[in-house]
Amino acid sequence: MTYLETAANFYSEVAQTPEIGLCCVQSTPLQLPGLKIPSKMQEMNYGCGTTVHPTELINQPTVLYVGVGGGLEALQFAYFSRHPSAIIAIDPVYEMRKAAKNNLKIAAQENPWFNTSFVDIREGDAFNLPVADASVDIVAQNCLFNIFEPEDLTRALKEAYRVLKPGGRLQMSDPISTRPIPIHLQQDQHLRAMCLSGAITYNEYIQRIINVGFGQVEIRARRPYRLLNSQTYKLSGHLLLESLDSVSFKVPIPNDGACIFTGKTAIYAGSDTYFDDGDGHILQPGIPLSVCDKTAAKFSKNISKNMIITDSTWYYDGGGCC
Ligand SMILES: C[S@@+](CC[C@H](N)C(=O)[O-])C[C@H]1O[C@@H](n2cnc3c(N)ncnc32)[C@H](O)[C@@H]1O
Repeated sequence: MTYLETAANFYSEVAQTPEIGLCCVQSTPLQLPGLKIPSKMQEMNYGCGTTVHPTELINQPTVLYVGVGGGLEALQFAYFSRHPSAIIAIDPVYEMRKAAKNNLKIAAQENPWFNTSFVDIREGDAFNLPVADASVDIVAQNCLFNIFEPEDLTRALKEAYRVLKPGGRLQMSDPISTRPIPIHLQQDQHLRAMCLSGAITYNEYIQRIINVGFGQVEIRARRPYRLLNSQTYKLSGHLLLESLDSVSFKVPIPNDGACIFTGKTAIYAGSDTYFDDGDGHILQPGIPLSVCDKTAAKFSKNISKNMIITDSTWYYDGGGCC
């Protein structure tokens, strides 16, 4: 059996018998005024963060949701896009599609604003998205791409890039690993399906996103996710997994490299009335300016005396660009 078949079998099982707490971190799912999440849907919250960023969902965006799970985030996206097929949610696992459809029917009974026609559930997988090139505003996936082996991850990222409109956004939440996961765990298909052993490091994850052409990436959250205990998992030391929420923009990669925003700021500490780097950054003394990691690195290297660079907060939603 391939690891993808093992994953499909696993998700067929947890579609029929929900496994509470399978992937989610201990927090209630995003609550919104007038949104009631059915309890069965909540039990099937198999996401490790959130891909729904409420302040940016204006103008009823079209969303392609990859790996529907119990339908929780499809419902949350539909809150912002209330028209037929606004959310196209795909999943290769029949039982998962069936569970999501049932949960969304219950959601329609509990939420007067919601109509099941808003979410169009289709058979499909991350490597063959059933929509045309450049046709959706957002592609979202939560806790799925980490299951994929690296080359398959790249295939899935390329496919997301293909279907996004120019300027469109790939909104993801995935576990990442604080150091490379040893091969014996990577090869454990069941742990991989459970989102425990397929994670790659932050640097590799971001690099793979850039490699398929995304010119800007913004980190929205980075938090502890799970600890792989050294005894249980036969490791030389405990291994911490984190969960990373990110938004990647389908914009051209600048000549000097992609812009990755992790919440750093630059603060000019000199005595001139302002500092102009001649590259679009004008800083007033003492006032922090959000900068991407590339600009932060340039500033630290060249003009560190009068420039303070603050640490990554792992939260940025400024929509800025260098
Ligand atoms: C960890 S669950 C996440 C579900 C959902 N995103 C959530 O946040 O609750 C992974 C989901 O991806 C689906 N899946 C498995 N293999 C897939 C593939 N190759 N392409 C798309 N979806 C897949 C599973 O059936 C399951 O619904």
